[in-house]
Amino acid sequence: MKLSSVWVALSLSPLLASAFRGSQPAIKESIRSAPQGWTRTGRAPADHVLSLKLALAQPKFSDLEKHLLASSDPAHPKYGAHLSKEEVHALLAPASDTLDIVHEWLESHGLGKESVTKSAAGDWVTLRVPAKVAEEMFNTQFHIYRHDESGDSFVRTTSYSLPSVLHPHIDLVQPTTMYTRIKPLRSTLHYSTELELTMDTASDTLTGPSGNAVDPSCNNQITLSCLKQLYNAEGYTPSNTSGNALGITAYLEQYANYADLQTFYQSQNPAAVGSNFTYVSINGGQNLQDPSQAGVEANLDVQYGFGMTYPTPGTFWSTGGEPPFTPDEFEPTNSNEPYSDWTDYLLNQTNIPQTVSTSYADSEETVPFSYADRVCKSFAAIGARGTSLLFGSGDGGVGITGPASTACTPNNGSDAHVFLPMFPGSCPYVTTVGATVNVPEVAASFTGGGFSNYFARPSYQDSDVSAYLQGLGDTYAGMYNASGRAYPDVSAQGVNFLVYIAGKPENVSGTSCATPAFASIVTMLNDARLQAGKSSLGFLNPMLYGNASAALNDITAGSNPGCATAGFNATTGWDPVTGLGTPDFGKLKDLVLSS
Ligand SMILES: *[C@@H]1O[C@H](CO)[C@@H](O)[C@H](O)[C@H]1NC(C)=O
Ligand SMILES: *[C@@H]1O[C@H](CO)[C@@H](O)[C@H](O)[C@H]1NC(C)=O
Ligand SMILES: *[C@@H]1O[C@H](CO)[C@@H](O)[C@H](O)[C@H]1NC(C)=O
Ligand SMILES: *[C@@H]1O[C@H](CO)[C@@H](O)[C@H](O)[C@H]1NC(C)=O
Ligand SMILES: *[C@@H]1O[C@H](CO)[C@@H](O)[C@H](O)[C@H]1NC(C)=O
Ligand SMILES: *[C@@H]1O[C@H](CO)[C@@H](O)[C@H](O)[C@H]1NC(C)=O
Ligand SMILES: *[C@@H]1O[C@H](CO)[C@@H](O)[C@H](O)[C@H]1NC(C)=O
Ligand SMILES: *[C@@H]1O[C@H](CO)[C@@H](O)[C@H](O)[C@H]1NC(C)=O
Repeated sequence: MKLSSVWVALSLSPLLASAFRGSQPAIKESIRSAPQGWTRTGRAPADHVLSLKLALAQPKFSDLEKHLLASSDPAHPKYGAHLSKEEVHALLAPASDTLDIVHEWLESHGLGKESVTKSAAGDWVTLRVPAKVAEEMFNTQFHIYRHDESGDSFVRTTSYSLPSVLHPHIDLVQPTTMYTRIKPLRSTLHYSTELELTMDTASDTLTGPSGNAVDPSCNNQITLSCLKQLYNAEGYTPSNTSGNALGITAYLEQYANYADLQTFYQSQNPAAVGSNFTYVSINGGQNLQDPSQAGVEANLDVQYGFGMTYPTPGTFWSTGGEPPFTPDEFEPTNSNEPYSDWTDYLLNQTNIPQTVSTSYADSEETVPFSYADRVCKSFAAIGARGTSLLFGSGDGGVGITGPASTACTPNNGSDAHVFLPMFPGSCPYVTTVGATVNVPEVAASFTGGGFSNYFARPSYQDSDVSAYLQGLGDTYAGMYNASGRAYPDVSAQGVNFLVYIAGKPENVSGTSCATPAFASIVTMLNDARLQAGKSSLGFLNPMLYGNASAALNDITAGSNPGCATAGFNATTGWDPVTGLGTPDFGKLKDLVLSS
């Protein structure tokens, strides 16, 4: 939409629609101040065009959730009965009275139906309006905030209002109070050197968790072959015609380099040389190819995800983010936060990959609850389509930035010293992956784990998490939310992965490594199911916490220090360090073929 059409519409500004007479603006969301690390530098120019997304209420979400839980429970008659694009859209759609009143309100501000765009389900409405108009609509002031670390500036506020009559119809308007900076979950090699590799080259053989001999080099560096040996997946070749596919997401200008992928294949999986993934740009995302632009995260994800599962077709989505504020910008900027752009895109596809790996996250408290809740519901919708979503658990142990970090003060103004959970790993509708190291495996010390402050503990993990908490007793009481969704769910190796970057082999560590490693095992399980004429697995957790836990290798040693504490301990059964454990593909395959 051209800016001028906004102004034409505004100049015809109609009378206030009747429904809004007497409906006073009431604060919808507010935060005390911008989080630490952001500086307010000035007022947003009146003509700066904001792109704002309104999330409309979803009255049928509880039906969607009910279906999700039934279709992902192997004991339920509806197991595997995934929904179509149209069925999911119908369950996400707003009520017609919501659409009517929201349109009436938008028209009262001169925004006709032609001035807004809607998601395919109709549950998100995007407006592009000058700051001056947005300030009137939301009864607030927008300012320019600079992110001190990156130097980028964004237009934001700390509070916004809606006429009270609209509150039940609009869940949120963002980006307004959102100061999220999602991050790739990988550490570079110099961090790896501090890690606890045993470097046990003296021994001739290692025994893997399923009892087989494993190449001793796997104790120093992880390769595709090491993962297949460790996770009992040697000799399994997926079909390229079963309809199965693996998707990898990328944000933040992380580019997957095609030449590096071929170099990696030549070294690690010669059969895959010459094969390729499908690249899809969402919302202006790019995949630039200058070797200096090769992203460590993106290269790691495609080399391990697609390398492990070759010849399974692969898709790499690059979702564009918000461009920084530039003072004399006159065209509308595309300022949506990326997760919802990706979920909207995916939910509007007829066929979507059955497994998706994402290695990006941020501190849960920096994501406004309303937004985290909506995005988490979109993940439930993707699960209801029959797709397994895997997310990394974070690389800061029980905090967000590593063992010695004292930056574990919540941003709500209290001076409490608390563990900081990570989103999206804290969403109960995704499968969250922690990291291990060494053979025999122990928890990697950086591996993120803990308890959500936003989402309550889901029933599928109730008995496992209660058992862990009983063992924990009063330790750390008050530093974590015992009633919150606990994570990770599972884990996989995450230290010293051989990755090619700009033509050279490097060592990369992080839950970023563990996530595509676990996702590739899930991809092969989906392949086995599809080849047997069964449905894809979809949302994994009810199965994982059910009978599949016996097909995972329980990790019982190691811990995840952070926030100047020793963190939680891995122990027998589920723990907030390594979850239920690492995969045994052979056992899992037998299990998924029997249900
Ligand atoms: C789980 O295991 C139990 C006991 O072995 C068995 O009775 C049950 O059918 C299994 N459930 C599923 C969903 O496979
Ligand atoms: C959804 O997909 C259909 C069919 O590909 C397309 O025509 C439509 O524009 C899409 N809707 C949105 C909102 O992207
Ligand atoms: C699948 O594999 C066969 C044999 O390896 C190959 O000829 C074919 O091109 C592949 N198809 C796709 C879609 O990759
Ligand atoms: C993979 O696809 C990209 C983009 O189309 C292309 O530039 C590259 O050469 C392809 N690589 C191979 C090995 O086909
Ligand atoms: C701030 O957050 C901490 C940790 O989540 C919590 O214990 C405390 O009660 C909160 N304080 C306020 C004022 O909300
Ligand atoms: C703890 O989690 C519960 C359940 O999600 C939530 O209602 C509560 O607000 C959380 N407490 C804090 C202090 O964040
Ligand atoms: C990666 O780690 C292995 C094992 O510790 C080491 O031999 C190798 O030199 C490292 N490679 C780089 C590029 O640091
Ligand atoms: C972890 O294990 C160590 C050693 O056994 C013990 O001292 C510590 O209390 C345990 N910590 C927790 C949080 O369970």
